[in-house]
Amino acid sequence: MTNYLNFLREVRDNFHEVGAVWPSSRFLGQTILAPLAQPRGPMHVLEVGAGNGALTRQLAELLRPGDVLDVIEINSRLAQDIRWRLERGGLLDQPGITIRLINDDLLTHNYDAHYDYIVSTLPLTMFPAAKARAILQLLTDLLKPSGVFTYIKYLFWYRVNRLFSGAEKTEQINGALSVIKEFDEKFWSHGRVVLMNMPPARVNFLRRPLPSGG
Ligand SMILES: C[S@@+](CC[C@H](N)C(=O)[O-])C[C@H]1O[C@@H](n2cnc3c(N)ncnc32)[C@H](O)[C@@H]1O
Repeated sequence: MTNYLNFLREVRDNFHEVGAVWPSSRFLGQTILAPLAQPRGPMHVLEVGAGNGALTRQLAELLRPGDVLDVIEINSRLAQDIRWRLERGGLLDQPGITIRLINDDLLTHNYDAHYDYIVSTLPLTMFPAAKARAILQLLTDLLKPSGVFTYIKYLFWYRVNRLFSGAEKTEQINGALSVIKEFDEKFWSHGRVVLMNMPPARVNFLRRPLPSGG
């Protein structure tokens, strides 16, 4: 419960960075993380914008020996909550599994790996187009060939926002949406709608192609 209260406090204090009214539901997590629950080999996974660790906990439960998980959260109080949540669940020290918790801005972090699977619950439609582009470019560049990037778009959120906002906000949202569309068209794999989340969300999966001839 404290975890949820901390999340809500950060929503109040940093709404434009947190960009959600409630942590992701278990149903949203199951959809986002479905590829990790399949039979598979060891993976290097990145989660960006981990909030209070709602999804991180589900993700850590799906890890297997040989997996490495990097978790990045910009907000230091939420980053601390993620550590507590994983420690309480006994998930930080699983044999053969490495979890690195990083309190940093994903855009300036110094990455030392490429990833098989990248999970983002960042509020992309709340960012200026240039920032949405920088994030999508960075994260798709960080994929290994054939690696998958998954992100969410809240279903009615930006429409409601556009309806009740001025021209400047509408322009910002439209700019971010057109950048997202560009990346969807370039890397599209598939999408799923999850109604059991607040607000309901669409989960999109983008795949980095193999180099030509691969
Ligand atoms: C919509 S919340 C999602 C939280 C959590 N993953 C969930 O699904 O409930 C987005 C999170 O991204 C974080 N965030 C925003 N900008 C970031 C950045 N540049 N680098 C790292 N984290 C960022 C926010 O602090 C917030 O915790």
